[in-house]
Amino acid sequence: MASFPTALQRNASLQAYHSFGCKVQAAGLAGFSGVEQIPELVAEAALPSLLVLGGGSNVLFTRNYPGLVLLNRIMGMRVEKEDEQHIYLRVGAGENWHQLVLHCVDKGWGGIENLSLIPGCVGASPMQNIGAYGAEVKDVIDEVEAWHLPDQQVIRFNNSDCRFGYRNSIFKQELKNLVVISSVRFRLQKQPKPNTAYGAIRQQLEAMQVSRPGIADVSRAVIAIRQSKLPDPKEIGNAGSFFKNPVVKTAVADELLAQFPEMPGYPDTAGYTKIPAGWLIEKAGLKGYRQGDAGVHQQQALVIVNHGSASGEELLAVAQLVQKKVSDMFGISLEKEVNILP
Ligand code: FAD
Ligand code: EPU
Repeated sequence: MASFPTALQRNASLQAYHSFGCKVQAAGLAGFSGVEQIPELVAEAALPSLLVLGGGSNVLFTRNYPGLVLLNRIMGMRVEKEDEQHIYLRVGAGENWHQLVLHCVDKGWGGIENLSLIPGCVGASPMQNIGAYGAEVKDVIDEVEAWHLPDQQVIRFNNSDCRFGYRNSIFKQELKNLVVISSVRFRLQKQPKPNTAYGAIRQQLEAMQVSRPGIADVSRAVIAIRQSKLPDPKEIGNAGSFFKNPVVKTAVADELLAQFPEMPGYPDTAGYTKIPAGWLIEKAGLKGYRQGDAGVHQQQALVIVNHGSASGEELLAVAQLVQKKVSDMFGISLEKEVNILP
């Protein structure tokens, strides 16, 4: 993670603070290590809007940000309580997500190993209920603590208060830009049961010749899979999946299947089917598409990439082209997963 300014900076570059790496500025930029610093920084900046960033790995800036960007650097980890089966671990929102995973794997605490190598900070993990390889963070979140900006007070959310869904939560909806998540308490298993339900994990473990996997093996398998298909933002700008996988009525999926028998699909809630957006984009002929430095990744069509000096507007134009082509061909409208700013 890039080092961060402790004092307020004006007209500061955001290039090092977001994974698309576009050359944009914020009217104000500062880091904070405790929520009590927020009111002071907001008053000093006197700017029209506020955006909190962790690692900047799920945002796209389409132009200079006219407000104050605050980098959340609240650190710390402590075991708050434990029972026979669980460890309750409180983690500061500014901690790096993957380092947390490695720490838990090292301690033998299970529950987040399938989420290895997801970029970003702990504080953003409840935002879109991060998920990968058969796991979602909602299954281990016990409590989220946040600073409510309008009321200037701390609020605590239990798991059901967070209204988690697929890449969704109350923090991405009603409370967007109204709260600053300061810490998350995770409920981890002391006697972990490795989750190898996802086919790609089982294949990878087989390739690694692991027959009785523990959580460290699952973590290593997930890391290997991710490294083989997802671009590293240090080498090529991106924010992971740009769109959500669409969930459509099964009747709609069946009609499409009649036309495209090879189309993959997975049962979702009753009567609904999830279709991989990467397949739709590839089928629409856009895998590896490039317009200047903005494009669609060569190995994973769900990832929009910055090959060098693409602007946020250029990246957004490629995303819009993808939406149009997929809509024209399949009648499906792709919803953006990435947070578009301003
Ligand atoms: P940021 O980009 O900094 O912020 C994201 C949003 O959350 C913004 O709206 C921001 O304002 C808000 N926010 C951030 N911190 C706080 C806070 N403390 N309080 C309130 N609001 C806050 N995601 C997945 O779910 N699964 C994946 O498998 C996955 N793979 C990825 C692979 C790559 C290569 C990349 C680049 C991204 C991937 N992502 C994935 C997306 C991303 O890693 C996650 O969304 C991650 O949680 C973002 O964390 P961040 O700290 O970088 O968030
Ligand atoms: N596919 C293609 N072509 C492509 C890409 C994918 O045909 O170019 C098809 C294949 O059929 C493949 C299927 O899509 O089997 C699924 O692909 P993959 O396993 O790569 O997963 P995904 O659906 O594209 C989702 C998440 C990822 C997460 C992986 C693994 C969303 C929006 N994305 O991607 O999360 O890491 O599953 O669980 O749900 C993210 O949110 O940023 C992210 C990377």
